[in-house]
Formats: sequence, structure tokens, C-alpha cells
Amino acid sequence: MQKKFPDGFYWGAATASYQVEGGIENNDWAKSALEGYVPTCGLACDHFNRYEEDFDLAKELGHNAHRFSIEWARIEPEEGKFDQEAIEHYRRVLMALRDRGITPFVTIWHWTLPIWFVEKGGWVSKDAEGHFLRYVSLLTNEYEDLVKFWVVYNEPETPVRHGYVIGDRPPHHKLRIFTALKVIKKIAKVYKKTYQVIKNIDPEAQVGFSESLVYFEPYENTLVNRLAVKIIKWWRNNPEYDVYASNCDFIGLQYYFHTRVRINLFKSKWGIQFNDNERVSDFGWEIFPEGIYHILLSLKKYKKPIYITENGLADADDKYRSDFIREHLIWCHKAFEDGVDLRGYLHWSLMDNYEWTRGFEMRFGLIKVDYETLERKIRPSAYVYKEICETNVVVE
Ligand code: FCB
Repeated sequence: MQKKFPDGFYWGAATASYQVEGGIENNDWAKSALEGYVPTCGLACDHFNRYEEDFDLAKELGHNAHRFSIEWARIEPEEGKFDQEAIEHYRRVLMALRDRGITPFVTIWHWTLPIWFVEKGGWVSKDAEGHFLRYVSLLTNEYEDLVKFWVVYNEPETPVRHGYVIGDRPPHHKLRIFTALKVIKKIAKVYKKTYQVIKNIDPEAQVGFSESLVYFEPYENTLVNRLAVKIIKWWRNNPEYDVYASNCDFIGLQYYFHTRVRINLFKSKWGIQFNDNERVSDFGWEIFPEGIYHILLSLKKYKKPIYITENGLADADDKYRSDFIREHLIWCHKAFEDGVDLRGYLHWSLMDNYEWTRGFEMRFGLIKVDYETLERKIRPSAYVYKEICETNVVVE
């Protein structure tokens, strides 16, 4: 059966500056790599120099939208000093997309921060808001003519959870739960102001955010499990989610995870995650397409347009990717039929890239990258997706 998406639907893929560009040495992740905490990123895909070639491939693959992020450390390498060459670079990137008829979704902060900013205390510092808003004003003024969709933050709670509680990402603090909650709140407050700053400069801009939402279910439907789901969901799906979803022109949804929660000390198997599903990605993440439907329905109450700003899997052999995309889109279409205002799907990722603490091992790309030669090779699943992008139809 053919499932048709609405006219004007955005189809494409996403990337993030640090993960693909290469040559970024002045952000907190590069510093952490030097200190031996996380893998080195180095040249990555050299997308910084090869963006035109990469956008040619996106066009060939039928994409009409592309999400990418601007690297703050390039634009503002020193506090208050903007780099004109970097500003021009991203203008050229935006023009390259425009020339190919591809609509940009521009992420302003995709986790990496300039070293000068973190040395001043990062988000904890009292000046953080002023610094961020100055950077945002600059971007909006510079690119107003080329950008309609601004994604202010990518998953704002993730770097805080990992950076202040788990400790595996910068700034590598552990178990600072109260600080983490404070930072999560502060970042949300800055978001609200950012929304206004962008709208004041460009009232036509569409301003939103991206958050990864986990589809939680109780393993058995008991009161204890249901309660546990509530608490875990509150923490994991961003305690400030309502602030974002109530102050935006669109919601960006990233869907990767399904988690079953079981609190039963008398069972030998208890905890917060069970993989009953045989199909898992190279990362070990369960493939559970139905979850995207439930999450989409849960967002209906905000009455905002929704874009899937990320959804994808690590699959070096391209074994599951075609089915993964098709099945998720069938569930997306069902959500659309059930009244969800879904307007676009951006797959993670256009090409293989630096997967944060896992380095280059996990391969999320529609396009395979050979890190020795930097040669790009389109994976078969990308052609399956191309057909969907070009026809606006997914076949069940
Ligand atoms: C998301 C991140 C993105 C990428 C994917 C796999 O949480 O936003 O950069 O790492 O996961």
C-alpha cells in the first residue's frame, strides 16, 4: 500500500560541524581529545573543503533539505572576535545548498563549545547568556537572507547529562546532579531569549530546537514500573521540555531509543533496558520503528509543526538501513494520518562521521566514507531512500 506524504514535505539528511568538517582544534572536544578523554577527530570527512561534492551527492539522492551546524569556535575563535573568513565560509555553504535547491536547517549549537567559553566556566558562567546571544545575533544578521529554519540547540540535555553526571564528555564532571539540573534550566532560559533575539531580527524565521526523546514503556504493566517510567522519562527526556515546546515555531524530534523499564527486585533480570528485539544496530541500539509513532502522538498536544531532525542507525554493512528507513516512515505516516503535523524527515546522517566517544567506528551514513582516501561511496539504502524522497511516497 502506498503512503503519500503531504506536498512540500522536506526530505534529506543531517550532519554536525565537528563530526564531519575536520580541522577544528579550538573547541572543548578537541581539547578533551588532546587530554586523552575522547577519540581524536582530526580531518574527519574533510567536509569543510568538500561540501560542494557532498551536496552534489545529496542532490543526486533526491534530498530537498539538509541539516547542518555552524561551529561557534570557527566563527568566534576568541571572545568577542569574529572571524570574517569563517563567516564567509558558511555563507558559501548556504549558497551551495541554495544553488542545488536544498533548504537548510541550521543548528546553532550542536554540543561543541569554543575553548575560551568553557574556560570562562561554560554554561555555568554568569556571562554565558550574553556570549551566546551575541553569537546568535551575529548569525541571524549575517544569514537572514539564506536561512529560514534555525535549530537553536541540538539535544541540549545530552551534553549536560554526559558532561556533569556520567562524565564521559566535556567538561567531564561526575555525579553533579544538582549542577546538571541547574545547567539544564539555565540553557532552557537562554533558549527562550534566543528565540526572541532571532525573531526580533527576522520575524519570518522559523525557530525551533531538536531533542532526542526516548520511547519508554513499563516492562510489565505494574504500578511500580509505571512510576519508574515517569521518573526516568522526566530526567532523560529533558526536565525542561515544556519550555522548549511551548516557545518555538517547530519541534525537532530525534528518535533513536526504546526502553522498557522493569523494577522488580525479585526477578533476576531487572533494570531499565531490555532488548527483546533481535534487530539491533552496530551500536547495540534496538531497532523499534513503532516508537516513533508513540512519541509523535505524545507531541500533538503542543500544536506545533514537527520535523524529524534525526533518525538513523549505525550499520556498516547496510544490512538494516533500507528497512529501518521504510518502517520508521510508515509509522511516521500513520502519525500524520492521526493528526500529527509532520513536515519533514532528516536522516542521520548524510555520511559516516565522528561519532563522539566512539570515534569513527560507528557508521551512520547514507554515504560511506573511506577515512584513508576520503572517498565517498553511496550505500544501496540511500537509493531506496532516494525513491521515497523523489516520489513523496513510502510503500508498505
Ligand atoms: C544524536 C546526535 C548526533 C549523532 C547521533 C547518532 O544524539 O545528535 O550528533 O551522534 O546521535
